[in-house]
Amino acid sequence: MSKTRNQHVLAPLGRRLAEVVEVRETGGYRVFSALDREGPEPEAGQFYMLAAARGWGGEDGRPYLARAFSVAAAEAGPRGVRLDFLVEAIGPGTERLAGLTPGDGLWLMGPLGRGFSPPGELAPSAHGAILVGGGIGIAPLAILRRRLAGAGIPAQTLLGFRDRQHSGGLELFDCSEIRLASEDDADSALVYACGPPAMLEAVREMCLDRGVVAELAMEAPMACGFGACFGCAIPLAEGGYMRLCCDGPVVRADEVSTALVAGSGH
Ligand SMILES: Cc1cc2nc3c(=O)[nH]c(=O)nc-3n(C[C@H](O)[C@H](O)[C@H](O)COP(=O)(O)OP(=O)(O)OC[C@H]3O[C@@H](n4cnc5c(N)ncnc54)[C@H](O)[C@@H]3O)c2cc1C
Ligand code: FES
Repeated sequence: MSKTRNQHVLAPLGRRLAEVVEVRETGGYRVFSALDREGPEPEAGQFYMLAAARGWGGEDGRPYLARAFSVAAAEAGPRGVRLDFLVEAIGPGTERLAGLTPGDGLWLMGPLGRGFSPPGELAPSAHGAILVGGGIGIAPLAILRRRLAGAGIPAQTLLGFRDRQHSGGLELFDCSEIRLASEDDADSALVYACGPPAMLEAVREMCLDRGVVAELAMEAPMACGFGACFGCAIPLAEGGYMRLCCDGPVVRADEVSTALVAGSGH
């Protein structure tokens, strides 16, 4: 949690080939881990554009473009940075990524975008953080939770899932305690959230109403991931637009006019 929002980790130019080193089931999701031998360690809340080295594009066409994925865990070691991704198969790209096996090649580009701000920069008087996650959106909160713990910052984690079958990835949080947050925490804590648009919008409105500082990790359809296509433009509260891939995907709750982004959320 040492970097400020303007000092986010920059991706090396171009895509690079990583190796899938582990795959496991978790609830209704899958976690696949890849060894990135060349890239830097990402910040919590940053993302990668991913494509399988085999079975991607070609004559069948889909999936063609790389798909955006939040990093759920990152650990630097002597052979490179091990990156964990949590995937829910909902279409051709996510199905192919959910079918990766150890030894497979994975094209990746990243880390991209701006991650979560350190609590001291967002709200110096906050004594801790409340993490609010839903469904597959728990991925960036898992790495954030570990980074906060490493920095000795207390965090309470509140997660919601569609049903019992879709409640995977909890082990990524590496904490013995996942507790419900209560309203009296709000005066001294700030909120980090990621999940379905309706959940994010509820968090955004609630935090704005109560004057609680909050950051949201949002999604939008992303074709390039680095600011070139404008496919990920979302409206700003003060008018105009931001490109979520390079000005986000983590945004302040008061920065955007809504968290209900067309074409995102599943
Ligand atoms: C910054 C960012 C981080 C993400 N992190 C993760 C992650 O950690 N794990 C994960 O499983 N997915 C994540 N996603 C969503 C993932 O990128 C999409 O689900 C994926 O691109 C869909 O590709 P597909 O080929 O499987 O399905 P498609 O055929 O492209 O889409 C299938 C259906 O999903 C909808 N859809 C398309 N894009 C999105 C989107 N961004 N969010 C939700 N629904 C979408 C489409 O409208 C369509 O109805 C992230 C997206 C972004 C922008
Ligand atoms: S995804 Fe292309 S500009 Fe954001």
